[in-house]
Amino acid sequence: MAEYTRYAMDERLESDSLHALATSGTAWEAQQEWEEYRTLMAYYRCAMMEVETKFNVLNTEFSLRHDRNPISGIKTRMKSPKSIVEKLKRLGHQPSVQAIEAHIHDVAGVRVICSFTEDVYTLADALLKQDDVVLVERKDYIASPKPNGYRSLHLIVTVPIFLAREKREMQVEIQLRTIAMDFWAALEHQLRYKKDTTFTDDMARELNFCAEISAMLDSRMNTLRREVFGDEFEYVVSERDNVSVSDEEQPAGEDEE
Ligand code: GTP
Ligand code: MG
Repeated sequence: MAEYTRYAMDERLESDSLHALATSGTAWEAQQEWEEYRTLMAYYRCAMMEVETKFNVLNTEFSLRHDRNPISGIKTRMKSPKSIVEKLKRLGHQPSVQAIEAHIHDVAGVRVICSFTEDVYTLADALLKQDDVVLVERKDYIASPKPNGYRSLHLIVTVPIFLAREKREMQVEIQLRTIAMDFWAALEHQLRYKKDTTFTDDMARELNFCAEISAMLDSRMNTLRREVFGDEFEYVVSERDNVSVSDEEQPAGEDEE
């Protein structure tokens, strides 16, 4: 499982993936493919940095106006080559540089941990209003939590990166969630991926109950926020009620946190 760590890149996995990508052909073709792969990954990394900066700017602006930070932390991660190859295979595609760009939407990931639930929507709206950001997909697991209790707002967007000779639109997956949602998701991930352990129905029920408690906690904290700070969100234009979340899109399993 790849961790969301700042600029982490595992060289060993990179070379594993070289073998996977270079499934056939000559050594020269494999070398070409490897170069293309490395270039594509560098582009994704740039797009990830762009998105991270956009959120840092929004956080700075908000804190100047309102004397508090809507963002408690940002984590970025590049999907590991191993996860990329596994996901392509799962989707029925031969690993190739073209297939990565066409079918993997979460090579670059940015997770924004917010203070309050309303901050999640305010930040998402503020980001999506920017004229260089294009929304590709939006899944609101806060309005419609997953059956296990998972809550977060997921966005897939494209942002441009400006290279010496061209401008390129790159996809980035963004997960916005509160501290409470992140707490639950991080622990659920640890529990579920413990090797050699069967996750019983009772455990699943307990985890679901914990998710409900965390949702209640968020709701009560948000009420307190309103009492303390009043109505801070003068620029919220929420599209959240206009976009439907399709249940079919929920994944059968998670590839990584
Ligand atoms: P995959 O990317 O293949 O998982 O499919 P998807 O893009 O349809 O999935 P989705 O947008 O629902 O979720 C993508 C990411 O959200 C995962 O890689 C996890 O990081 C996170 N996630 C989704 N569901 C859960 C969950 O139940 N528990 C935890 N801890 N994380 C989740
Ligand atoms: Mg995904």
